[in-house]
Amino acid sequence: MNRFIKNLIIPVVALLVLLTGCSQGKIGNNSGDPTPIESEKTDILIVYYSLSGNTEKVAKQIQKNTGGDLFKIEIENPYPDDMYEISDLAKKEKESGNLPKLKDDLPKLASYETIYIGGPVWSNTLSSPIIKYLEKDFNGKTIIPFWTDAGDAGKYEEEFRKYLKSGDLKQGLGFSNVSSLGEEEIDKMIKGLNSISESSSNLSETKIRITADDTVVEAVLNDTKAAQEFKKLLPLTLSMTRMGEHEYYSSLGEPLSEDDITKVGYDIGDLAYWTPGDLFAIYFDDTDEEPEGLIILGNITSYISLIEKLGNLQEMKIELKED
Ligand SMILES: Cc1cc2nc3c(=O)[nH]c(=O)nc-3n(C[C@H](O)[C@H](O)[C@H](O)COP(=O)(O)O)c2cc1C
Repeated sequence: MNRFIKNLIIPVVALLVLLTGCSQGKIGNNSGDPTPIESEKTDILIVYYSLSGNTEKVAKQIQKNTGGDLFKIEIENPYPDDMYEISDLAKKEKESGNLPKLKDDLPKLASYETIYIGGPVWSNTLSSPIIKYLEKDFNGKTIIPFWTDAGDAGKYEEEFRKYLKSGDLKQGLGFSNVSSLGEEEIDKMIKGLNSISESSSNLSETKIRITADDTVVEAVLNDTKAAQEFKKLLPLTLSMTRMGEHEYYSSLGEPLSEDDITKVGYDIGDLAYWTPGDLFAIYFDDTDEEPEGLIILGNITSYISLIEKLGNLQEMKIELKED
């Protein structure tokens, strides 16, 4: 029995919520929607598998934000209703390699460049239909994974990398307890995810950890010269000032390289170096202002709301994250 299943025995209420949402085909399958749901001509595809609608909720928001085509993966033989049965079945499917047969109306990938692939976390790893889907050839495609869980995603992202046979894998994003997240919150997290992929970060980039009191947030540094210089300063404890409900900033004490291209404005989740003031900044929300002279050092990969919820003056410890 995995850690998650054991934990579920205690929060009975959470279990009931999960179980009521676990019947196959409850959402989407009966909608009669043509699949994929195509919007304007786009090179973005959002493919997802969803048993109880959580991943579907996120997928639909990604579709809204990106204008991509949306496609729901379905399997030939539906899973039973009971979560424990599914869990046992999925384990056997993985061990035997006898993965579920997907309905063969899957979208052709030729016209797509970026493919978001979403699914639920099952027993700390990928659901069997997603493992099956990853057998496809994604050569030349940019792949962005996303997943939903009930609080313990295990090593979903690492597992995803293991199963993906081809394609350029970008940083993905997990969404916990989606039913308790509002549209706005999901939207904000997706914007963070997009900014991560736009800055073409990938899993081999430098992972860092930012700790403020009991809150731990993860981030990645990119390979700009300034980010590499910043990396050399770690571990670092900074007294961060919260400004205008959109950023934390602090002086770094010493300037970083200004050889990299600077930009005007930021995306939510950016870690940046503000060159006019030699300041390090973490941006957690939008603002009407468009700061000039920013060098983007990296991105937050955890929930941005963790940062947003912190108080006024925050001492933050920034260090390399050892795997
Ligand atoms: C078979 C099974 C195994 C699960 N295992 C985990 C788990 O290991 N960790 C976790 O946090 N949630 C787990 N869950 C909960 C789901 O990941 C979570 O409810 C998810 O958001 C469901 O997405 P969906 O509605 O798109 O299917 C499991 C659910 C099922 C059905």
